[in-house]
Amino acid sequence: MTRHRSWAEPWKIKVVEPIEMTTRSERERHIRDAGFNTFLVRSEEVYIDLLTDSGTSAMSDRQWAGMMMGDEAYAGSRNYYHLEEAVREIYGYQELIPTHQGRGAEHLLSKLLIKPGDHVPGNMYFTTTRLHQELAGGTFHDVIIDEAHNPASEHPFKGDIDLAKLDALVREVGAERVPYVCVAVTVNLAGGQPVSMANLVKVSEYCHARGIKVMLDATRAVENAWFIQQREPGMHGRTVAQILRMLCDLTDGATMSGKKDSLVNIGGWLGLRDPKLAAKAQNLVVVYEGLHTYGGLAGRDLEAMAIGIRESIQESYIRSRIGQVYYLGERLQHAGVPIVKPIGGHAVFLDAAAMLPHVPRDQFPAQALAAALYVESGVRAMERGAVSAGRDPATGENRYPKLELVRLTIPRRVYTQAHMDVVTESVIALFEDRDRVHGLRFTYEPEYLRFFQARFEPVGAARVLDTPDGADLSEEPHFELGGS
Ligand code: F0G
Repeated sequence: MTRHRSWAEPWKIKVVEPIEMTTRSERERHIRDAGFNTFLVRSEEVYIDLLTDSGTSAMSDRQWAGMMMGDEAYAGSRNYYHLEEAVREIYGYQELIPTHQGRGAEHLLSKLLIKPGDHVPGNMYFTTTRLHQELAGGTFHDVIIDEAHNPASEHPFKGDIDLAKLDALVREVGAERVPYVCVAVTVNLAGGQPVSMANLVKVSEYCHARGIKVMLDATRAVENAWFIQQREPGMHGRTVAQILRMLCDLTDGATMSGKKDSLVNIGGWLGLRDPKLAAKAQNLVVVYEGLHTYGGLAGRDLEAMAIGIRESIQESYIRSRIGQVYYLGERLQHAGVPIVKPIGGHAVFLDAAAMLPHVPRDQFPAQALAAALYVESGVRAMERGAVSAGRDPATGENRYPKLELVRLTIPRRVYTQAHMDVVTESVIALFEDRDRVHGLRFTYEPEYLRFFQARFEPVGAARVLDTPDGADLSEEPHFELGGS
């Protein structure tokens, strides 16, 4: 008989960073000063920061030691060669172009492959990816399966591409107008949902038969590989590293934000197979990022990423990483809070549309819910709904995606289970008070990626979250010893 054993983190804590709880009246002031946008709140005013898993990881002692070994030569730094070796070995791309972060790689790829009037299909949009495609003159098309747009669907691979949708687009515009398909693994805006190996095999066969490239957004590919290992028939006996490599082997290249899977605070890369295309990318990176052996990064950053890549594929690490996200998701689900199912790889997504039916879509329920959660608890989350989706470049109208979500994103190796418990209790408290949340309207709307810098005000109310009767706003919450 095997006895139950919980997962635990395969590391112990050596350095800590203090965080502080604020009072509710302080947070009300902070969120107002921030225009009700959690991106504009100062980090010091946040208690538990679940804004993003991007660049927020804790590095290991090995990575910090690697930072000391930075070779800051302008050209040919040894750390570049270490990174090249890691990417070749773990991801399998022979040609490596470092960039300052993921969007730097997206910029280069879009400029290299997209001509004005081209069409780029993808499994749901990502904000920066789509914008770079549009700036290069392309049009993005969502070809993800329908289940991805339904938060309640339990489909195990909601990131999969719908081959029929892809085929319909290719027939309509012609394969010569489709330079590549962008496949994101996992799909961030669908809720951190994975793509199956079987689906990528089919996509790759379909595209390569028609001269269309397949480009991976490998930002969270390790997490995707773990889901394949756990869920896909025939994959259980393989290591995460083997599955990752199988995924990459089906593609012609990848853009990477090392700030996620690779456990670093900054860095990214473009990986390619075709040496001719790589030569063009190496030429272009000099214009926008820096010489092709540093791509906008310091030598020490390259080293930390090379080490982080190797740490990210360790089975015990990835199990605890996704196990922590799962722990939070399970507890919220158990309390009846509407979340995107199945629980994703990097975050738990609250279904704001389901939670706040009284807030109309044009008053941005997810933006309001994220602001209200901050007021309630000092927990910082992020809107992933209509504000993130922006406006249609052709019509200028707001895009209203089916999913109107608040993302509780878990940084890697940073928070403990106790933090997850406090987050759970905070979300449940807000869920019980959800009728007190008011919608928002823009007071300032920037042109590009508006969610980062937009400002808002509550509609028809003084606050985004009404105060419970008799509450003392100057007090911190009462923390009790012992579990519940
Ligand atoms: N692709 C995906 C799937 C991402 O999630 C991100 C960033 C990028 C590309 C761009 O990478 O930030 O290094 O330039 N996502 C962050 C987030 C910002 O919070 O989800 P970057």
